[in-house]
Amino acid sequence: MSTVGKRDFRPKIHFTPPKMWTNDPNGLVYANGKYHLFYQHHPEDTVWGPMHWGHAVSTDLIHWEHLPIALCPDELGTIFSGSAVFDSENTSGFGTPENPPIVAMYTQDYQAEGIHCQHQSIAYTLDGVHFTKYSGNPVIPCPEGRVDFRDPKIFRNRIRNCWGMVLAAGDHVEFFASQDLIHWEKTGEFGPAGNCAPGVWECPDLFELPTPTGTRYVLLVSMGMDVQQGGSRTQYFVGFFDGETFRPERVESAPLWLDEGFENYAGVTFDNTDSRILIGWANSWPYAPQCPTGDFCGSMTLPRRLSLRETPMGLRLACNPIGLEPYLDPVQEIASGDPLPGETFALSVKGSGDGEISLENSDGQILRFGIRDNVFFFDRSHGGDVSFSDVFASGSYSRREVSRIFSGDWNLEVVFDVSQIELFLDGGVQSMSCLVFPDTPYARLSLDAPAVSKPRIAPCGR
Ligand code: FRU
Repeated sequence: MSTVGKRDFRPKIHFTPPKMWTNDPNGLVYANGKYHLFYQHHPEDTVWGPMHWGHAVSTDLIHWEHLPIALCPDELGTIFSGSAVFDSENTSGFGTPENPPIVAMYTQDYQAEGIHCQHQSIAYTLDGVHFTKYSGNPVIPCPEGRVDFRDPKIFRNRIRNCWGMVLAAGDHVEFFASQDLIHWEKTGEFGPAGNCAPGVWECPDLFELPTPTGTRYVLLVSMGMDVQQGGSRTQYFVGFFDGETFRPERVESAPLWLDEGFENYAGVTFDNTDSRILIGWANSWPYAPQCPTGDFCGSMTLPRRLSLRETPMGLRLACNPIGLEPYLDPVQEIASGDPLPGETFALSVKGSGDGEISLENSDGQILRFGIRDNVFFFDRSHGGDVSFSDVFASGSYSRREVSRIFSGDWNLEVVFDVSQIELFLDGGVQSMSCLVFPDTPYARLSLDAPAVSKPRIAPCGR
Protein backbone atom coordinates (compact mmCIF):
# COMPACT_ATOMS: atom_id res chain seq x y z
CA MET A 1 0.00 0.00 0.00
CA SER A 2 1.46 3.38 -0.88
CA THR A 3 1.90 5.06 2.48
CA VAL A 4 0.49 8.43 3.47
CA GLY A 5 3.29 10.97 3.38
CA LYS A 6 4.01 13.79 5.78
CA ARG A 7 2.79 16.19 3.11
CA ASP A 8 1.76 16.36 -0.54
CA PHE A 9 4.65 14.94 -2.56
CA ARG A 10 2.94 15.14 -5.95
CA PRO A 11 5.38 16.67 -8.46
CA LYS A 12 4.17 19.64 -10.50
CA ILE A 13 5.88 19.23 -13.87
CA HIS A 14 6.11 15.45 -14.01
CA PHE A 15 3.28 13.21 -15.13
CA THR A 16 1.35 11.48 -12.37
CA PRO A 17 -1.98 9.62 -12.61
CA PRO A 18 -4.92 11.51 -11.06
CA LYS A 19 -5.09 8.74 -8.48
CA MET A 20 -4.08 5.12 -7.91
CA TRP A 21 -1.16 3.17 -9.30
CA THR A 22 1.06 3.55 -12.35
CA ASN A 23 4.22 1.83 -13.52
CA ASP A 24 5.60 1.77 -17.07
CA PRO A 25 4.81 4.37 -19.72
CA ASN A 26 3.22 2.61 -22.71
CA GLY A 27 2.24 3.37 -26.29
CA LEU A 28 4.09 6.68 -26.59
CA VAL A 29 3.03 8.12 -29.94
CA TYR A 30 2.61 11.52 -31.56
CA ALA A 31 -0.43 11.81 -33.81
CA ASN A 32 -2.66 14.62 -35.05
CA GLY A 33 -0.89 17.30 -33.00
CA LYS A 34 -0.94 15.39 -29.71
CA TYR A 35 1.52 13.35 -27.72
CA HIS A 36 -0.18 10.29 -26.29
CA LEU A 37 1.02 8.74 -23.06
CA PHE A 38 -0.55 5.47 -22.04
CA TYR A 39 0.56 3.92 -18.80
CA GLN A 40 0.37 0.72 -16.79
CA HIS A 41 -2.47 1.46 -14.42
CA HIS A 42 -4.39 -0.22 -11.64
CA PRO A 43 -7.49 1.96 -11.28
CA GLU A 44 -8.63 0.37 -8.02
CA ASP A 45 -5.61 0.66 -5.79
CA THR A 46 -2.30 2.40 -5.14
CA VAL A 47 -0.41 -0.85 -5.66
CA TRP A 48 0.14 -3.00 -8.75
CA GLY A 49 -2.86 -5.16 -9.67
CA PRO A 50 -4.81 -6.16 -12.79
CA MET A 51 -3.20 -3.95 -15.38
CA HIS A 52 -5.08 -1.53 -17.64
CA TRP A 53 -3.74 1.17 -19.96
CA GLY A 54 -4.38 4.61 -18.50
CA HIS A 55 -4.28 7.45 -21.04
CA ALA A 56 -3.31 11.12 -21.20
CA VAL A 57 -2.50 13.56 -24.01
CA SER A 58 -0.38 16.66 -24.25
CA THR A 59 0.65 19.23 -26.81
CA ASP A 60 3.88 20.16 -25.01
CA LEU A 61 4.93 17.00 -23.09
CA ILE A 62 4.62 18.83 -19.75
CA HIS A 63 0.90 19.54 -19.28
CA TRP A 64 -1.15 16.36 -19.57
CA GLU A 65 -4.88 16.05 -20.04
CA HIS A 66 -6.26 12.87 -18.49
CA LEU A 67 -8.51 10.73 -20.71
CA PRO A 68 -10.62 7.67 -19.93
CA ILE A 69 -8.87 4.33 -19.51
CA ALA A 70 -7.90 3.12 -22.99
CA LEU A 71 -7.63 -0.66 -22.56
CA CYS A 72 -9.16 -2.95 -19.93
CA PRO A 73 -8.44 -6.62 -19.22
CA ASP A 74 -10.47 -9.23 -21.16
CA GLU A 75 -10.66 -13.02 -21.43
CA LEU A 76 -7.15 -13.12 -22.97
CA GLY A 77 -5.63 -11.51 -19.90
CA THR A 78 -4.65 -8.24 -18.29
CA ILE A 79 -3.02 -5.45 -20.33
CA PHE A 80 0.73 -5.35 -19.84
CA SER A 81 3.23 -3.00 -21.45
CA GLY A 82 3.45 -2.28 -25.15
CA SER A 83 3.69 0.41 -27.76
CA ALA A 84 1.64 2.33 -30.32
CA VAL A 85 2.37 3.64 -33.79
CA PHE A 86 0.69 6.13 -36.08
CA ASP A 87 -0.17 3.95 -39.10
CA SER A 88 -0.13 6.93 -41.47
CA GLU A 89 -0.43 4.79 -44.62
CA ASN A 90 -3.22 2.69 -43.14
CA THR A 91 -1.18 -0.48 -43.70
CA SER A 92 -3.38 -2.27 -41.19
CA GLY A 93 -6.58 -1.34 -42.99
CA PHE A 94 -8.13 -0.40 -39.62
CA GLY A 95 -8.70 3.18 -40.80
CA THR A 96 -8.93 4.97 -44.12
CA PRO A 97 -6.30 6.91 -46.07
CA GLU A 98 -8.02 10.10 -44.86
CA ASN A 99 -8.25 8.95 -41.26
CA PRO A 100 -5.43 6.54 -40.51
CA PRO A 101 -5.41 4.72 -37.18
CA ILE A 102 -3.15 4.64 -34.18
CA VAL A 103 -2.38 0.95 -33.66
CA ALA A 104 -1.36 -0.30 -30.23
CA MET A 105 0.33 -3.62 -29.49
CA TYR A 106 0.40 -4.88 -25.92
CA THR A 107 1.03 -8.00 -23.92
CA GLN A 108 -1.87 -9.89 -22.42
CA ASP A 109 -0.85 -11.62 -19.25
CA TYR A 110 -2.96 -14.74 -18.85
CA GLN A 111 -3.01 -16.76 -15.65
CA ALA A 112 -5.58 -19.45 -14.95
CA GLU A 113 -5.73 -23.12 -14.01
CA GLY A 114 -1.99 -23.43 -13.57
CA ILE A 115 -1.25 -21.79 -16.94
CA HIS A 116 0.77 -18.59 -17.11
CA CYS A 117 1.60 -17.13 -20.51
CA GLN A 118 1.98 -13.81 -22.27
CA HIS A 119 0.42 -13.18 -25.70
CA GLN A 120 0.69 -10.12 -27.93
CA SER A 121 -2.54 -8.42 -28.97
CA ILE A 122 -3.41 -5.30 -30.96
CA ALA A 123 -6.09 -2.61 -30.85
CA TYR A 124 -6.67 0.55 -32.83
CA THR A 125 -8.25 3.96 -32.45
CA LEU A 126 -9.51 6.38 -35.07
CA ASP A 127 -10.39 9.23 -32.71
CA GLY A 128 -7.37 8.98 -30.42
CA VAL A 129 -9.55 8.09 -27.43
CA HIS A 130 -11.65 4.96 -27.98
CA PHE A 131 -9.95 1.69 -28.88
CA THR A 132 -11.28 -1.32 -30.74
CA LYS A 133 -9.52 -4.59 -29.98
CA TYR A 134 -8.69 -6.70 -33.04
CA SER A 135 -11.05 -9.66 -33.32
CA GLY A 136 -8.21 -12.06 -34.21
CA ASN A 137 -6.19 -11.47 -31.02
CA PRO A 138 -3.70 -12.62 -29.99
CA VAL A 139 -1.60 -11.80 -33.07
CA ILE A 140 1.50 -13.45 -31.56
CA PRO A 141 0.63 -16.29 -29.20
CA CYS A 142 3.04 -17.17 -26.43
CA PRO A 143 5.25 -20.11 -27.46
CA GLU A 144 4.43 -23.14 -25.36
CA GLY A 145 6.36 -23.48 -22.13
CA ARG A 146 7.41 -19.82 -22.06
CA VAL A 147 6.32 -17.21 -19.53
CA ASP A 148 8.43 -14.09 -20.04
CA PHE A 149 7.39 -12.98 -23.51
CA ARG A 150 6.29 -9.39 -23.39
CA ASP A 151 6.45 -5.63 -23.93
CA PRO A 152 6.32 -5.35 -27.76
CA LYS A 153 7.85 -2.15 -29.11
CA ILE A 154 6.96 -1.46 -32.74
CA PHE A 155 9.26 0.64 -34.92
CA ARG A 156 9.57 1.37 -38.63
CA ASN A 157 12.08 -1.09 -40.16
CA ARG A 158 13.46 1.07 -42.95
CA ILE A 159 15.87 -1.63 -44.13
CA ARG A 160 13.13 -4.08 -45.06
CA ASN A 161 10.57 -1.31 -45.56
CA CYS A 162 8.09 -2.81 -43.16
CA TRP A 163 7.15 -2.62 -39.51
CA GLY A 164 9.61 -4.03 -37.01
CA MET A 165 8.99 -5.10 -33.45
CA VAL A 166 11.27 -5.98 -30.56
CA LEU A 167 9.99 -8.14 -27.71
CA ALA A 168 11.52 -9.10 -24.36
CA ALA A 169 11.83 -12.87 -23.94
CA GLY A 170 13.38 -13.69 -20.57
CA ASP A 171 17.11 -13.32 -21.09
CA HIS A 172 17.11 -11.96 -24.63
CA VAL A 173 15.06 -9.96 -27.11
CA GLU A 174 13.37 -11.23 -30.26
CA PHE A 175 12.77 -9.27 -33.45
CA PHE A 176 9.68 -9.53 -35.65
CA ALA A 177 8.59 -8.02 -38.96
CA SER A 178 5.19 -7.25 -40.46
CA GLN A 179 3.68 -5.46 -43.46
CA ASP A 180 0.33 -4.74 -41.82
CA LEU A 181 0.85 -4.75 -38.01
CA ILE A 182 -1.35 -7.86 -37.85
CA HIS A 183 0.73 -10.72 -39.31
CA TRP A 184 4.17 -11.03 -37.76
CA GLU A 185 7.18 -13.23 -38.55
CA LYS A 186 10.15 -13.66 -36.27
CA THR A 187 13.43 -12.48 -37.84
CA GLY A 188 16.09 -12.76 -35.12
CA GLU A 189 17.23 -12.71 -31.52
CA PHE A 190 19.83 -10.85 -29.50
CA GLY A 191 21.24 -11.75 -26.10
CA PRO A 192 22.23 -12.61 -23.52
CA ALA A 193 25.47 -10.79 -24.35
CA GLY A 194 28.79 -10.81 -22.50
CA ASN A 195 28.30 -7.49 -20.77
CA CYS A 196 24.66 -7.99 -19.78
CA ALA A 197 23.40 -7.17 -16.35
CA PRO A 198 21.76 -10.21 -14.72
CA GLY A 199 17.98 -9.96 -14.63
CA VAL A 200 14.73 -10.42 -16.52
CA TRP A 201 14.69 -8.49 -19.77
CA GLU A 202 11.76 -6.09 -20.03
CA CYS A 203 10.48 -3.15 -22.08
CA PRO A 204 12.96 -3.12 -24.98
CA ASP A 205 13.19 -0.38 -27.60
CA LEU A 206 15.24 -0.11 -30.80
CA PHE A 207 15.94 3.12 -32.68
CA GLU A 208 18.48 4.72 -34.97
CA LEU A 209 20.48 7.84 -34.09
CA PRO A 210 23.01 9.85 -36.08
CA THR A 211 26.73 9.96 -35.17
CA PRO A 212 29.66 11.64 -36.91
CA THR A 213 30.57 8.25 -38.41
CA GLY A 214 27.15 7.26 -39.69
CA THR A 215 24.05 6.13 -37.88
CA ARG A 216 23.95 3.53 -35.13
CA TYR A 217 21.09 1.65 -33.56
CA VAL A 218 20.48 1.79 -29.84
CA LEU A 219 18.82 -1.15 -28.11
CA LEU A 220 17.32 -0.31 -24.71
CA VAL A 221 16.49 -3.12 -22.31
CA SER A 222 15.09 -2.60 -18.83
CA MET A 223 16.62 -5.16 -16.49
CA GLY A 224 14.50 -6.45 -13.65
CA MET A 225 17.23 -7.31 -11.16
CA ASP A 226 17.44 -8.39 -7.56
CA VAL A 227 17.80 -5.68 -4.95
CA GLN A 228 21.47 -6.62 -4.44
CA GLN A 229 22.15 -6.28 -8.15
CA GLY A 230 20.62 -2.85 -8.46
CA GLY A 231 16.85 -3.37 -8.63
CA SER A 232 15.24 -1.76 -11.67
CA ARG A 233 17.68 -0.29 -14.18
CA THR A 234 17.80 0.27 -17.92
CA GLN A 235 20.75 -1.00 -19.92
CA TYR A 236 21.58 -0.01 -23.49
CA PHE A 237 23.64 -1.38 -26.36
CA VAL A 238 24.99 0.58 -29.33
CA GLY A 239 25.38 -1.21 -32.65
CA PHE A 240 23.81 -2.17 -35.95
CA PHE A 241 20.47 -3.52 -37.12
CA ASP A 242 20.43 -5.34 -40.45
CA GLY A 243 16.65 -5.42 -40.73
CA GLU A 244 16.46 -8.78 -38.98
CA THR A 245 18.55 -8.63 -35.85
CA PHE A 246 20.83 -6.43 -33.75
CA ARG A 247 24.59 -6.68 -33.38
CA PRO A 248 26.52 -4.56 -30.85
CA GLU A 249 29.43 -2.55 -32.24
CA ARG A 250 31.73 -3.65 -29.46
CA VAL A 251 31.58 -5.60 -26.23
CA GLU A 252 31.79 -3.18 -23.32
CA SER A 253 33.49 -4.29 -20.13
CA ALA A 254 30.45 -3.34 -18.04
CA PRO A 255 26.79 -2.63 -18.75
CA LEU A 256 25.99 0.83 -20.09
CA TRP A 257 23.17 2.43 -18.12
CA LEU A 258 20.66 4.84 -19.55
CA ASP A 259 20.54 6.56 -16.17
CA GLU A 260 22.86 6.25 -13.20
CA GLY A 261 20.16 7.16 -10.68
CA PHE A 262 17.85 4.93 -8.66
CA GLU A 263 14.54 5.66 -10.33
CA ASN A 264 14.22 5.58 -14.09
CA TYR A 265 12.84 2.30 -15.39
CA ALA A 266 10.93 0.88 -18.36
CA GLY A 267 11.65 4.00 -20.43
CA VAL A 268 10.71 3.87 -24.10
CA THR A 269 10.58 6.42 -26.91
CA PHE A 270 7.81 8.08 -28.93
CA ASP A 271 6.79 6.91 -32.35
CA ASN A 272 6.39 9.53 -35.10
CA THR A 273 8.51 12.39 -33.73
CA ASP A 274 11.42 14.13 -35.48
CA SER A 275 13.79 13.48 -32.60
CA ARG A 276 14.02 10.55 -30.15
CA ILE A 277 12.07 11.39 -27.00
CA LEU A 278 12.06 9.04 -24.04
CA ILE A 279 9.87 8.92 -20.95
CA GLY A 280 10.61 6.47 -18.12
CA TRP A 281 8.82 5.35 -14.99
CA ALA A 282 10.43 7.31 -12.15
CA ASN A 283 10.36 4.50 -9.64
CA SER A 284 11.84 1.12 -8.83
CA TRP A 285 10.12 -2.21 -8.17
CA PRO A 286 11.74 -3.02 -4.79
CA TYR A 287 9.94 -0.14 -3.03
CA ALA A 288 7.58 1.56 -5.49
CA PRO A 289 4.39 0.45 -3.72
CA GLN A 290 5.56 1.84 -0.40
CA CYS A 291 6.37 5.37 -1.57
CA PRO A 292 4.70 7.96 0.70
CA THR A 293 2.56 9.63 -1.95
CA GLY A 294 -0.86 8.81 -0.54
CA ASP A 295 -3.70 8.61 -3.06
CA PHE A 296 -1.51 8.03 -6.11
CA CYS A 297 1.61 5.98 -6.63
CA GLY A 298 4.14 6.36 -9.42
CA SER A 299 5.21 9.15 -11.73
CA MET A 300 7.14 9.54 -14.97
CA THR A 301 10.51 11.13 -15.67
CA LEU A 302 10.63 14.35 -17.64
CA PRO A 303 10.63 13.75 -21.39
CA ARG A 304 14.24 13.56 -22.61
CA ARG A 305 15.74 13.97 -26.04
CA LEU A 306 18.24 11.20 -26.74
CA SER A 307 21.41 11.56 -28.79
CA LEU A 308 24.64 9.62 -29.28
CA ARG A 309 27.83 11.44 -28.33
CA GLU A 310 31.43 10.55 -28.98
CA THR A 311 33.27 10.35 -25.62
CA PRO A 312 36.68 9.10 -24.47
CA MET A 313 34.92 5.78 -23.69
CA GLY A 314 33.24 5.46 -27.10
CA LEU A 315 29.72 6.34 -28.18
CA ARG A 316 27.43 7.10 -25.27
CA LEU A 317 23.75 7.91 -25.06
CA ALA A 318 23.06 11.44 -23.82
CA CYS A 319 19.71 12.52 -22.32
CA ASN A 320 18.49 16.09 -22.13
CA PRO A 321 15.16 17.22 -20.72
CA ILE A 322 12.86 18.93 -23.19
CA GLY A 323 9.72 20.99 -23.12
CA LEU A 324 10.39 22.85 -19.89
CA GLU A 325 11.52 26.22 -21.23
CA PRO A 326 8.07 27.84 -21.56
CA TYR A 327 7.34 27.15 -17.90
CA LEU A 328 10.53 28.52 -16.41
CA ASP A 329 10.54 32.02 -14.95
CA PRO A 330 13.47 34.29 -15.86
CA VAL A 331 16.84 32.83 -14.92
CA GLN A 332 18.51 34.38 -11.86
CA GLU A 333 21.96 34.03 -10.41
CA ILE A 334 22.05 32.22 -7.08
CA ALA A 335 24.82 32.03 -4.48
CA SER A 336 25.57 29.67 -1.63
CA GLY A 337 23.24 30.33 1.30
CA ASP A 338 20.49 31.87 -0.83
CA PRO A 339 16.89 30.76 -0.42
CA LEU A 340 15.47 28.44 -3.05
CA PRO A 341 12.63 29.88 -5.14
CA GLY A 342 9.99 27.27 -4.35
CA GLU A 343 9.69 23.55 -4.79
CA THR A 344 10.05 23.32 -8.57
CA PHE A 345 13.05 24.80 -10.33
CA ALA A 346 15.87 24.26 -12.80
CA LEU A 347 19.40 24.89 -11.56
CA SER A 348 22.54 25.11 -13.63
CA VAL A 349 26.07 24.87 -12.20
CA LYS A 350 29.37 24.93 -14.02
CA GLY A 351 32.38 23.92 -11.96
CA SER A 352 35.93 22.73 -12.02
CA GLY A 353 37.53 20.19 -9.71
CA ASP A 354 35.55 19.10 -6.66
CA GLY A 355 32.13 20.60 -6.09
CA GLU A 356 29.27 19.78 -3.76
CA ILE A 357 25.80 21.22 -4.10
CA SER A 358 23.23 20.71 -1.38
CA LEU A 359 19.59 21.48 -0.83
CA GLU A 360 18.61 21.92 2.81
CA ASN A 361 15.36 22.35 4.71
CA SER A 362 14.59 23.81 8.12
CA ASP A 363 14.43 20.29 9.64
CA GLY A 364 18.12 19.81 8.97
CA GLN A 365 17.51 17.41 6.08
CA ILE A 366 20.05 17.77 3.34
CA LEU A 367 20.37 16.40 -0.17
CA ARG A 368 23.88 16.35 -1.59
CA PHE A 369 25.26 15.85 -5.07
CA GLY A 370 28.22 16.92 -7.16
CA ILE A 371 31.70 15.90 -8.21
CA ARG A 372 34.49 14.62 -6.00
CA ASP A 373 37.78 13.25 -7.41
CA ASN A 374 36.09 13.18 -10.80
CA VAL A 375 33.35 10.95 -9.40
CA PHE A 376 29.73 12.00 -9.93
CA PHE A 377 27.84 11.44 -6.68
CA PHE A 378 24.33 11.72 -5.29
CA ASP A 379 23.49 11.24 -1.63
CA ARG A 380 19.94 11.20 -0.26
CA SER A 381 20.79 9.39 2.99
CA HIS A 382 19.90 12.48 5.04
CA GLY A 383 17.62 14.05 2.43
CA GLY A 384 14.22 13.15 3.84
CA ASP A 385 11.91 10.35 4.89
CA VAL A 386 13.28 6.88 4.20
CA SER A 387 11.28 5.05 6.85
CA PHE A 388 8.72 3.62 4.41
CA SER A 389 11.15 1.04 2.98
CA ASP A 390 14.23 -0.76 4.30
CA VAL A 391 15.57 -0.99 0.76
CA PHE A 392 15.10 2.72 0.07
CA ALA A 393 16.77 3.43 3.41
CA SER A 394 19.71 1.08 2.78
CA GLY A 395 23.19 2.33 1.97
CA SER A 396 23.27 1.10 -1.59
CA TYR A 397 20.02 2.93 -2.39
CA SER A 398 21.05 6.11 -0.56
CA ARG A 399 24.27 7.08 -2.24
CA ARG A 400 25.47 6.52 -5.77
CA GLU A 401 28.94 7.21 -7.11
CA VAL A 402 30.02 6.81 -10.71
CA SER A 403 33.25 7.79 -12.41
CA ARG A 404 32.84 10.69 -14.76
CA ILE A 405 33.23 9.91 -18.45
CA PHE A 406 34.81 13.29 -19.13
CA SER A 407 37.43 15.08 -17.03
CA GLY A 408 38.15 18.77 -16.52
CA ASP A 409 35.47 21.43 -16.10
CA TRP A 410 31.97 20.07 -15.66
CA ASN A 411 28.45 21.30 -16.07
CA LEU A 412 25.43 20.07 -14.22
CA GLU A 413 21.79 20.78 -15.07
CA VAL A 414 19.39 19.97 -12.26
CA VAL A 415 15.61 19.84 -12.36
CA PHE A 416 13.99 19.59 -8.95
CA ASP A 417 10.26 19.05 -8.57
CA VAL A 418 8.84 18.52 -5.04
CA SER A 419 9.98 14.89 -4.65
CA GLN A 420 11.81 14.18 -7.89
CA ILE A 421 15.26 15.28 -8.92
CA GLU A 422 16.97 14.78 -12.26
CA LEU A 423 20.66 15.55 -12.75
CA PHE A 424 22.24 15.89 -16.19
CA LEU A 425 26.03 16.01 -16.15
CA ASP A 426 28.30 17.13 -18.99
CA GLY A 427 25.58 17.70 -21.55
CA GLY A 428 23.52 14.75 -20.33
CA VAL A 429 26.13 12.07 -21.10
CA GLN A 430 25.59 10.94 -17.51
CA SER A 431 22.31 11.46 -15.71
CA MET A 432 20.67 10.49 -12.44
CA SER A 433 16.94 10.42 -11.71
CA CYS A 434 16.00 10.00 -8.08
CA LEU A 435 13.17 10.38 -5.60
CA VAL A 436 13.48 12.18 -2.29
CA PHE A 437 10.84 12.93 0.33
CA PRO A 438 11.91 15.90 2.49
CA ASP A 439 9.62 16.46 5.49
CA THR A 440 9.44 20.15 4.64
CA PRO A 441 10.42 21.72 1.31
CA TYR A 442 14.10 22.37 0.76
CA ALA A 443 14.57 26.06 1.44
CA ARG A 444 18.24 26.88 0.94
CA LEU A 445 21.00 26.14 -1.55
CA SER A 446 24.49 25.51 -0.34
CA LEU A 447 27.36 25.36 -2.75
CA ASP A 448 30.86 24.27 -2.02
CA ALA A 449 32.45 24.49 -5.43
CA PRO A 450 34.95 26.60 -7.30
CA ALA A 451 32.32 27.67 -9.81
CA VAL A 452 33.49 28.37 -13.32
CA SER A 453 30.58 30.77 -13.66
CA LYS A 454 27.82 31.88 -11.30
CA PRO A 455 25.18 29.19 -10.75
CA ARG A 456 21.82 30.05 -12.20
CA ILE A 457 18.35 29.06 -11.18
CA ALA A 458 14.98 29.36 -12.89
CA PRO A 459 11.87 28.84 -10.79
CA CYS A 460 9.15 26.95 -12.53
CA GLY A 461 6.14 29.22 -12.58
CA ARG A 462 3.44 26.62 -12.87
C1 FRU B 1 8.12 -3.63 -16.26
C2 FRU B 1 7.01 -4.66 -16.32
C3 FRU B 1 6.78 -5.13 -17.73
C4 FRU B 1 5.36 -5.60 -17.71
C5 FRU B 1 4.72 -4.59 -16.77
C6 FRU B 1 3.60 -5.14 -15.96
O1 FRU B 1 8.07 -2.77 -15.19
O2 FRU B 1 7.30 -5.75 -15.45
O3 FRU B 1 7.70 -6.11 -18.16
O4 FRU B 1 4.76 -5.61 -18.96
O5 FRU B 1 5.75 -4.12 -15.92
O6 FRU B 1 2.95 -4.13 -15.26
